[in-house]
Amino acid sequence: KNVLFVASECVPFIKTGGLADVVGSLPKCFNKDEFDVRVIIPKYMCMKEEYKNQLEYITHFYMDLSWRSQYVGVLHMMYEGIHYYFIDNEYYLAGPRPYGNIYEDIEKFAFFSKAALSALPLIGFKPDIVHCHDWQTGLIPVFLKDKFHEGEFFCNMKSIMTIHNLKFQGVWDMKTVKDITGLPSCYFTPDKLEAYGDANYLKGGLVYADAITTVSRTYAEEIKTPFYGEHLDGLLNARAHDLRGIVNGIDYDEYNPETDRYIVKNYNAKNFRKEKVKNKRALQEELGLEKDDKKFMIGIVSRLTDQKGFDLIAYMMDEMCQQDVQFVILGTGEEKYENMFRHFAWKYQGKVSANIFYSEAMSHKIYASCDAFLMPSLFEPCGLSQLMSLRYGTLPIVRETGGLKDTVIPYNEYEGTGTGFSFANYNAHEMFNTLKYAQYIYYEKKREWNKMVDRAMAADFSWASSAKQYEEMYNWMLGC
Ligand code: ADP
Ligand code: GLC
Repeated sequence: KNVLFVASECVPFIKTGGLADVVGSLPKCFNKDEFDVRVIIPKYMCMKEEYKNQLEYITHFYMDLSWRSQYVGVLHMMYEGIHYYFIDNEYYLAGPRPYGNIYEDIEKFAFFSKAALSALPLIGFKPDIVHCHDWQTGLIPVFLKDKFHEGEFFCNMKSIMTIHNLKFQGVWDMKTVKDITGLPSCYFTPDKLEAYGDANYLKGGLVYADAITTVSRTYAEEIKTPFYGEHLDGLLNARAHDLRGIVNGIDYDEYNPETDRYIVKNYNAKNFRKEKVKNKRALQEELGLEKDDKKFMIGIVSRLTDQKGFDLIAYMMDEMCQQDVQFVILGTGEEKYENMFRHFAWKYQGKVSANIFYSEAMSHKIYASCDAFLMPSLFEPCGLSQLMSLRYGTLPIVRETGGLKDTVIPYNEYEGTGTGFSFANYNAHEMFNTLKYAQYIYYEKKREWNKMVDRAMAADFSWASSAKQYEEMYNWMLGC
C-alpha cells in the first residue's frame, strides 16, 4: 500500500516546530513490507544547505495557477530509507523563512498543493492514500475531489487530513482564492470552503478528506467544543465519526541521552543519578548561571507565543524568580515575550538565562541538564517538548490540556505514581503553586523525585504504538 505524506516542513531538511519532527520521524516507523510511505515537501531556498546539495533533479513541467503559468521542478532524495520529493519554484520559495505573510502563503501553498498532485504521474508513484498535514495542504483533498484531477490516476485516491494545530487555518478572501485555485464557485459555499465570508483552506481539507486525525485523544475531544474549536467545532462535530486522535511519538534515536552528541555527558536510566548533573554543571558554566549542582533548574524550549502559556509566565515570573530556582529559556517568537525574558535575565543575573534564538544543540542541552521543564500551554494539540523532557528524565510541569494531559501522569505522593506535575485551570497562581510543589519534592523528597525520573525515563513515547494506529487506519480506509 502506498501512502504519500504532504507537508510544509520536515526534519532534517526544514523545521519551524513539531510538525517537522512528526513528518520527519513517523514515515520511518511503518512496517516496510506492507507500506511504502513517501514524503513530498517544498524545496525552500532556506532549507539546510548540506541537504540542498544532495537533491537529484527528476523532472520539471509548467502548471497553470491563476493567470500565471508556473515552473514546477521535482527533485528527489533518499534519506534513511525513505523517498523524499521536493517541489521547486523560485518565485514562491525564495524567502528567508518557510512562511511569510499570509497573503504570500495562501498562493504559495495553493501552488505547492496543486504541484505536488500534478507531479505524481511523472514521478511514477501512485499513492492509495494522500496524508495531508495542516492548513498548508488543506486544498489537496479538495483538488482530489474536483474535476481537475478526474481521470484514472487520481480517481480512487483517498485522503487524510491531520490537524497539528487548529489555530492556523489559511484564511483569505474568497475572490482571490477562487482566482488562484481555479476551483469553480460551487466550492465556495458555507458547507465547503467558505467560513464566515472568507475562504478557509483547512476547512476545505476537513470537509473533503476521507478521514481526519489530530495528534492526541484529548485534543480530538477538545476541538469539538467552542473554546478549542476555533470556529470549526460545528464541522468537527459533524465529522466526529471520521475524526480520531493518535498521539505523537518522538524519534528515539535522535533524542537519546545515552548517545546524544550535543550533550557533555551521556547517561541512561541506570546512571542518571550520578551522571545527569554533569550536564547541568556544564550548562551553568556555558550560560553564566550560578554554579550549583543542587539548584532546581527549570527549562523552557518553545515558540514564544500565547499558545504556550507565556502570559501566565509573564504574570508570575518575578515571583517565580524569588524561589530557589534557575530558569533556562530557549525560544523565539512574539517580541513582547522575547523582551520579557531578556529583561528577567538582566534583572536576575546568574539565575535566569534567556537564549532568544533557534538552536538544536542548545535544545538538547536543556532537555538533558534541567531538573524540570515548564510548559503551561493554553492549548496543546500534542506537544513534543514534554516527551523529549521525559526521555531525558527532566520532569515536565504542564497544564492539563491536549497532548500534555495524555502524556504526563501527575505525581501522586500517596501511590508513588506519576511522571511530572500538572494543573487544570489556565490560572497563573495554579501554575505557580504547582511549580512550588515540584520544587518542594525536588529539595525535600529527593528519593521520590528520583523515582519519578525513573518512571519518566521508562515511559515509552517512541512511534511504535502510534505508527500501528496509523497503519490500522490506512487499512480500514482501504477496506483491508
Ligand atoms: P510546536 O510544534 O507547537 O512548536 P512541539 O512541542 O510540538 O511544539 O514541538 C516543538 C519543537 O521545536 C521541539 O522539537 C522543540 O525542541 C523545538 N524548538 C522550539 N523552539 C526551539 C528553539 N528556539 N531552538 C531549538 N528547538 C526549538
Ligand atoms: C503543532 C502543535 C504541537 C504538536 C505539533 C506536532 O505545532 O502545536 O502541539 O506537537 O504540531 O504535531
